[in-house]
Amino acid sequence: MPDRARWCVITAVAGLLWFFSTGLAAAAPAPQTVPEPPSDGCITCHRNLGGRLAAPALKIADDIHVRRGFTCTACHGGDAKAPGMEAMDPKRGFVGRPKPADLPAVCGKCHSSPEIMRRFNPRIPTDEVARFQTSVHGQKLSAGDQRVATCTSCHGVHPILAVTDSRSPVFPSSVPATCARCHADAAYMKPYGIPITQYAEYKTSVHGEALLGRGSKQAPACNDCHGNHGAVPPGVDSVANVCAQCHGSQRDLFTRSPHRAAFESMGLPQCTACHGNHQISRPSDEMVGTSPPAVCAQCHQADSKGGVAAKVIRTALEDLKQSTAAAGDLVARAENAGMDMSDAKLPLSDARTQLILARNLAHGLSLREVQSATSEGVGLSRKAADLGRAGLAEIEFRRRGLVAALVVIAVLSLGLYLKTRTTPGP
Ligand code: HEC
Ligand code: HEC
Ligand code: HEC
Ligand code: HEC
Ligand code: HEC
Ligand code: HEC
Ligand code: HEC
Ligand code: HEC
Ligand code: HEC
Repeated sequence: MPDRARWCVITAVAGLLWFFSTGLAAAAPAPQTVPEPPSDGCITCHRNLGGRLAAPALKIADDIHVRRGFTCTACHGGDAKAPGMEAMDPKRGFVGRPKPADLPAVCGKCHSSPEIMRRFNPRIPTDEVARFQTSVHGQKLSAGDQRVATCTSCHGVHPILAVTDSRSPVFPSSVPATCARCHADAAYMKPYGIPITQYAEYKTSVHGEALLGRGSKQAPACNDCHGNHGAVPPGVDSVANVCAQCHGSQRDLFTRSPHRAAFESMGLPQCTACHGNHQISRPSDEMVGTSPPAVCAQCHQADSKGGVAAKVIRTALEDLKQSTAAAGDLVARAENAGMDMSDAKLPLSDARTQLILARNLAHGLSLREVQSATSEGVGLSRKAADLGRAGLAEIEFRRRGLVAALVVIAVLSLGLYLKTRTTPGP
């Protein structure tokens, strides 16, 4: 074998060996990275106590704090190196089981300290306690009410999980149930006399349906509207900004409509006056008009300026809806009959976009803007309808042509047949 060929064989064999060895290594199970269960005085003794005293030590391995090298003493104080009961000597800083009212201070020791938090994770904010103190929960807690939500009511304890952990009680899809534990419990909330329907209503709303039903990550959970820690109902004049986190265009239109000043002076809540707060349902054109279920009818007489505007907007929307529906029907018929209708589909789809735009523009209450959007849409749908009609006419023309051709062929065949019959054979 010549040198070159021998060299090639050797390289190929070596390559194959390398390929299989790495392939096998990849297929072999990766070494398990189960964190070593932490072990110190507190954990060793508590693990063997049984019941409520053992549970914290047995379930702590997943705790975000333990994963970062903290142990029981982070919250309870004491001396983790001492093996006996002296570990829990108050002289060694042991604080025992913190009461709800102590939690903002216990957790805030680190979570309100930028120096400490920066060392571990600079991206975690340090305003949780400050915001909590401004919430209805925090205010009532300071006033001595121990039944409101505190840090562990929402985050759990033993373990406290990262907020991005899908098992965390504050993971977006779990937040509604976490709040509902108290807010949907009639007996628990009785002393406060506030509604307990938020969860039930939210579940069936467009938002609840999207988050809980379809797992949409864009839809808001309770905390997106109420804040993570500053839980207060949005004030009537700040609702639009809450919604605008995700619905900016409606806020902008609302802000320059006559409704903004009118709602403000009458103390009417923005957005939710028409949409509701927890039970927001899918909007429809029936919301616009002068008689129920139109929302405008709640506040405007049919002959008032608002009522007249409602009627004009609704009529404009209905006109465009009808003309796009009619055009859509023509185009579909032509397409089913075998015509290529791509040319008509573009204006048709643009007309539908104009309808979506016009519905959105209704928030600005400018009749000129709504009507200009709808008339542009009507123009586009007429264009599509014309193309649809032309397609159908073409089909009709071809059909007639075919019939004529068939008749001619039939006549010719008959003539030929008669001719062959009358002509004597050779
Ligand atoms: C030698 C065993 C032992 C060690 C070590 C130990 N504990 Fe305890 N711990 C106990 C027992 C027993 C109790 C129940 C005492 C009681 O009810 O008075 C207890 C109770 C507690 C309680 C509950 C107090 C309450 O009021 O319900 C906490 C919190 C606690 N320990 C935390 C710690 C921490 C933190 C450490 C480490 C610094 C620690 N323990 C070390 C045995 C131990
Ligand atoms: C991040 C803070 C934190 C850490 C870390 C922590 N605990 Fe706790 N622990 C608490 C809080 C807060 C409570 C009070 C219960 C509550 O608010 O729900 C508590 C309650 C307890 C209780 C009383 C349980 C009961 O049902 O009465 C025991 C016992 C206890 N902890 C032991 C431990 C042990 C042992 C460790 C370490 C393995 C530990 N804790 C780690 C915050 C913590
Ligand atoms: C009413 C429920 C509730 C209460 C009470 C609460 N939290 Fe939170 N917390 C949340 C929610 C919801 C999130 C956000 C989860 C997310 O980002 O998806 C959060 C996030 C956090 C985070 C992650 C960083 C951040 O700020 O987003 C920390 C740390 C935290 N909370 C600490 C605390 C502390 C400390 C307390 C007590 C002072 C507390 N929480 C009280 C619900 C609560
Ligand atoms: C000894 C300091 C210390 C104490 C006390 C403490 N934490 Fe933490 N906590 C941390 C640090 C540091 C982290 C960041 C871990 C990381 O992401 O690297 C953290 C993370 C968290 C997270 C996860 C944040 C996220 O972005 O996912 C939550 C939730 C949390 N802590 C809640 C609490 C609560 C509730 C208490 C009181 C019961 C508490 N912590 C007490 C230091 C502390
Ligand atoms: C441990 C029980 C508990 C949990 C969990 C809880 N809350 Fe509360 N919440 C209360 C209590 C009690 C009040 C006081 C009611 C009052 O005085 O109006 C309250 C008050 C409120 C208020 C003010 C209501 C008002 O107008 O007075 C809002 C908003 C609120 N909670 C939102 C939430 C949200 C959002 C969550 C979940 C992220 C949540 N709560 C979790 C018990 C809880
Ligand atoms: C889309 C935003 C939004 C979401 C999501 C939302 N809320 Fe609200 N919530 C509001 C607004 C706005 C108010 C103020 C009510 C008003 O004055 O019109 C409110 C009021 C409240 C109140 C005060 C009592 C009441 O019913 O008026 C509580 C308590 C409350 N919400 C809890 C919750 C809980 C629990 C959830 C989750 C199951 C939740 N909210 C989800 C916007 C929201
Ligand atoms: C965190 C983002 C977020 C916030 C905050 C929010 N929404 Fe939404 N909203 C959504 C998403 C996402 C959808 C689409 C849900 C779906 O997939 O059907 C939606 C849907 C809607 C719809 C139905 C739209 C349609 O075309 O069918 C209305 C109406 C609505 N939201 C009103 C509000 C109001 C009013 C508020 C404030 C009180 C609000 N939203 C707050 C994200 C948000
Ligand atoms: C005066 C009553 C009214 C107010 C106030 C109002 N909306 Fe609407 N909204 C409507 C009507 C009516 C529709 C449906 C139009 C249709 O489908 O014909 C609608 C539709 C929507 C939609 C569906 C998409 C769209 O734009 O058509 C969203 C999202 C929405 N509104 C959010 C908001 C937000 C956010 C606010 C506050 C900034 C708000 N709305 C204020 C009446 C109102
Ligand atoms: C919650 C009550 C409320 C609802 C619902 C409501 N409006 Fe209004 N609207 C007002 C108030 C208050 C004014 C201030 C002028 C007035 O008193 O008519 C106003 C003013 C107007 C104006 C300006 C009138 C002028 O005098 O310049 C128009 C246009 C209007 N609304 C249209 C509508 C339409 C269309 C709807 C339904 C989509 C609607 N409104 C729903 C309360 C409401």
